Amino acid sequence: MTEQMQFQGTAVIPPGLEACGAEELSALGATDVKALHRAVGFRTDLAGFYRLQLQARLPFRLLRQLAVFPCRHREELYAGVQRSVDWSEWLPPELSFRVDASGSLPGLTHSHYSALQVKNALVDWQRERWGERSSVDLDNPDLSIHVHLGGGQARLSVDGSGESLHRRGYRPRMGLAPLKENLAAGLIRLTGWDGSVPLADPLCGSGTLLIEAACMALGRAPGLDHRFALERWPDFNGQLWTQALEQAGQSERQQLADGRPLAAVMGLELDGEVADQARANAEAAGVGDAISIQSGDFRSFQPPEGPGVLVCNPPYGERIGDRDALEPLYADLGRMVKERCSGWDFWLLSGNPELTGALKMKASRRIPVSNGGIDCRWLHYAIH
Ligand SMILES: C[S@@+](CC[C@H](N)C(=O)[O-])C[C@H]1O[C@@H](n2cnc3c(N)ncnc32)[C@H](O)[C@@H]1O
Repeated sequence: MTEQMQFQGTAVIPPGLEACGAEELSALGATDVKALHRAVGFRTDLAGFYRLQLQARLPFRLLRQLAVFPCRHREELYAGVQRSVDWSEWLPPELSFRVDASGSLPGLTHSHYSALQVKNALVDWQRERWGERSSVDLDNPDLSIHVHLGGGQARLSVDGSGESLHRRGYRPRMGLAPLKENLAAGLIRLTGWDGSVPLADPLCGSGTLLIEAACMALGRAPGLDHRFALERWPDFNGQLWTQALEQAGQSERQQLADGRPLAAVMGLELDGEVADQARANAEAAGVGDAISIQSGDFRSFQPPEGPGVLVCNPPYGERIGDRDALEPLYADLGRMVKERCSGWDFWLLSGNPELTGALKMKASRRIPVSNGGIDCRWLHYAIH
């Protein structure tokens, strides 16, 4: 493939952030961008695909379409898989692989079964061609293949990301209900915060919202430390990849894109150990100097000179804390914000409408998002 050749791609996006994800991919140069269900479709070329992998903050993963063919039943799936892609190039028997399926067709309604059908088509083709077959590796495959069925078609794609892109690498896996990094980045994008006014999270936990916000404002590319599956593809272009890496590295700045300084970015966290961890995370993400994290109770929060943007993801009793005990916390949070943050925009991630009622405030926007499978709302309050 030449670098100019365009192909169709799919970004897997957290539910609720599809429109925001589409905007992000457009801004990074993707074309024909379309928000879908839990995904964004786009077109790009190899250089553009590399740029998206390294710089997009919202996707879990980015897939590249290899083929699309008419498919009405399982025999057509089996035959179509074998003839629509040059597997001698993409999947020689020494490489391991896995197959994931989504969507459905009449007679192919179970994604596990559809994936099995694709796997069988591939290994049968390999045995025919080489007398041996690839092994299946679910954890760390050389090639990860996705098949999507729907509308009388099968779409075959390969996953260029490898490990999920939300794992930026700055945060150890910790058990305190932290937000996924790509969800946090999307939530910040939805606030419209541009780095020129203060940003504060008075219940900041491991600091994910603040870290993603600072990285975004200072142009720090999320994928610089990631190992990408596309580096093992047969048409991997080392020169284009190096250029994409250089370009991503150069986008990092000490100030905002227009030269203004980054405004205060600050967090409060009740648990001293968690606050220490948040500071370590910010350091590891390369934005330790941009963020100040104190350990303390939000009830003693003193906002910097604003107005600015207040974000938070308080406990909501689904995974940590007890719902009844949490009502007073929400009531105090509402009081604190109304008393001290006049003129600020306040955004709160709610997983429990009863608890947010205790804020005694009226949301001006309610954006549905999913946080680890929990149906949540990203609520906006304009504080008068
Ligand atoms: C759901 S977690 C926030 C997770 C965070 N968004 C992240 O990604 O790590 C809620 C946090 O609020 C903290 N918290 C609870 N009560 C608090 C209070 N009164 N003042 C400040 N922080 C508090 C908890 O210790 C916990 O870390």
